[in-house]
Amino acid sequence: MKRISIAGTGMYLPERILTNADLEKMVDTTDEWIFTRTGIRQRHMAADGQSTSDLGAEAGKRAIADAGLEPSDIDMIIVATVTPDMLMPNTACFVQNIIGAKNAFCFDLEAACSGFVYAMETAKNYILAGAAKNVLVIGAEKLSSFTDWTDRGTCVLFGDGAGAVVLREAEGDGGILSTVMGSDGALTELLMIPAGGSKSPSSEATVADRMHCIQMSGREVFKHAVRSMCDAGQKALEKAGLSIDDIACIIPHQANMRIIQAISDRLGVDTDRFYLNLERVGNISGASIPVALDEAVKNDVIKNGDNVLFVAFGGGFTWGASAVKWEK
Ligand code: UT7
Repeated sequence: MKRISIAGTGMYLPERILTNADLEKMVDTTDEWIFTRTGIRQRHMAADGQSTSDLGAEAGKRAIADAGLEPSDIDMIIVATVTPDMLMPNTACFVQNIIGAKNAFCFDLEAACSGFVYAMETAKNYILAGAAKNVLVIGAEKLSSFTDWTDRGTCVLFGDGAGAVVLREAEGDGGILSTVMGSDGALTELLMIPAGGSKSPSSEATVADRMHCIQMSGREVFKHAVRSMCDAGQKALEKAGLSIDDIACIIPHQANMRIIQAISDRLGVDTDRFYLNLERVGNISGASIPVALDEAVKNDVIKNGDNVLFVAFGGGFTWGASAVKWEK
């Protein structure tokens, strides 16, 4: 059986930082509330004029270089995002143009915060089917463009950033060992950007009501996130024939430290074994896992031969997990 592995990683976080102290001046909140309820201290914000594709292209270039490839070697680009540059064309085409990957076919994948796990699995299956060889998978978000900066319940959570990987057929014995994915479309209303699509096209009323921004029932999402990420993680381990003790590093979608703590308690594994950057970057949705992965690899937290577990949960609801044997 062929294995598909991660041949390179890269990430990009915009320079500007928004701290909890900055947010205290914008809405009725405190650093203490934000940190104790979420674990977030700061988040990165894209510059004016910088869009999701700019962030994604920078991360993508770095992942391609890390894989020892040229942009012209990439034959497929998937961008996992909930914050596309435009409804049409897709963000992956913008990325293609910026990085000069002229031999690629390009599309976006929308599975909210689970998008990166979904996109990796999609890319893996294209390669296994012989339909692509070197795939650039990017998780990129400019959530600041879709944040209601008057809603203290959501605006303290999100940040901007992008992470990327290049997937190709494995040369050694590493690679993606298993993936599980799930969705529950009965719970769409708990986390959404309600307007701007065909259901509620843009109008003065939708803009006035801030319906182009993220709306979330935080407590409900929290409960489902814990349950689904634990369940998906356990199923991915089972499918790979591994136990949690075989995993050197867990990279969860990072939305709230209390969610991660609950997952760590339920899986019976210390939070030391999670790679966490939530405090510095906030919730960056589809970019969360690939940004953390690049940091963990570059900081030698993940080493050759290590088993790594990704777990994700997001709007839809969608969830997923992948077990990967690191070999690069
Ligand atoms: O990435 C996709 C998945 N997303 C998630 O997983 C997010 C999941 N949800 C969460 O992380 C948490 O639910 C939140 C961080 C969003 C909220 O935390 P919570 O502990 O669930 O708080 P809550 O919404 O139940 O609100 C508790 C109180 C409320 O006041 P009252 O009604 O008790 O007086 C809120 O109005 O905290 C208040 N509150 C705030 N206070 C200060 C809400 N936001 C803030 C704030 N600053 N920023």
